[in-house]
Amino acid sequence: MATGDQLKSLIRSHYSDQSERFYTLALQVAAYEAKLGHVALAHDIKQILDTERKKNGPQIIPFPQDLKGLVLTEEPEVLLSSLVIPESLFERIHLLVHEYRQQEKLKAYGLSNRRKMLLIGPPGTGKTMTARALARELHLNLNTIQVDRLVTKFMGETSAKLRQIFDLMQQISGVYLFDEFDAIGGERSLDNDVGEMRRVLNAFLQFIEQDTSDSIIIAATNNPRLLDQALIRRFDDVLYYNTPTAEERKHLTENVLNTFKGSDLIWNDILSESEGLSHAEIDIACRDSIKIAILNDTNKVNHDLLMKTIQNRQNARKGMKGES
Ligand SMILES: Nc1ncnc2c1ncn2[C@@H]1O[C@H](COP(=O)(O)OP(=O)(O)OP(=O)(O)O)[C@@H](O)[C@H]1O
Ligand SMILES: [Mg+2]
Repeated sequence: MATGDQLKSLIRSHYSDQSERFYTLALQVAAYEAKLGHVALAHDIKQILDTERKKNGPQIIPFPQDLKGLVLTEEPEVLLSSLVIPESLFERIHLLVHEYRQQEKLKAYGLSNRRKMLLIGPPGTGKTMTARALARELHLNLNTIQVDRLVTKFMGETSAKLRQIFDLMQQISGVYLFDEFDAIGGERSLDNDVGEMRRVLNAFLQFIEQDTSDSIIIAATNNPRLLDQALIRRFDDVLYYNTPTAEERKHLTENVLNTFKGSDLIWNDILSESEGLSHAEIDIACRDSIKIAILNDTNKVNHDLLMKTIQNRQNARKGMKGES
């Protein structure tokens, strides 16, 4: 049987007309029952929800017209399990999920669930993917705010736009990803312009502190040196991403190649060849090799082929750095 807290939240969400929240909570009840081994009940609950949702469609709240193009919304399909990251990062992510699901229990003790995360790390290491997978896990939409665009396009009214975005978070629960976050997270002491950026950062600090929404706020950047200390304090968690270790490169390569993996792979060579590449670059190399295997009608990625596509990525990277 669902927990008392779950039932109370479910009833509350019904009477406060939060149909999306009701849907999420009911799904959580189903998941909870499944975990207890009540698979048939879980299945029945899901079926009722699916039928009703098909009838009524998801609740669509119109986006304010002037935020169109600034906030991109998607319903991601990425699974948390497809992320290849260190166990310590998984633990932080699972804790956020756990506290989100148990938020009513925490509220009863005057505590709020952790829901503000700062992700720092080099390009292509899984920051955006984490936001996607979290949204999927929590049955929420992912709303991405392209911070650099917000800043360059709306110079002078960036703080007002930020206010609108924080209002939106309150109205429409979701995962809100502030991408390229260093565009507003720069140190306040670096007075690099007419003071506009300092005002924007101060506004952000104020909004994030006052925010009482149910939304998950994620900020991502690959430029940690620019981030203001005052800002880092506002997040419940700061997660550091990195390019993959040898073990992670093997795990990722095996995941992506999947059934296309050839039987002659020499891991020592492959792992030394892929050293320094990001997850995203390894993902591309693997997909490139799969495409070649398909077009050659072999449908298997053999050692030489994989080595070649990895070398291509290394060359692309070295080319960018101006090395020979
Ligand atoms: N940790 C990871 N585990 C598995 N796949 C990954 C990981 N990181 C990246 N990828 C692959 O690379 C793609 C791009 O990664 P992602 O967009 O998450 O990078 P990012 O860290 O947000 O980079 P940027 O700083 O450039 O925005 C993902 O869609 C996925 O296919
Ligand atoms: Mg990203």
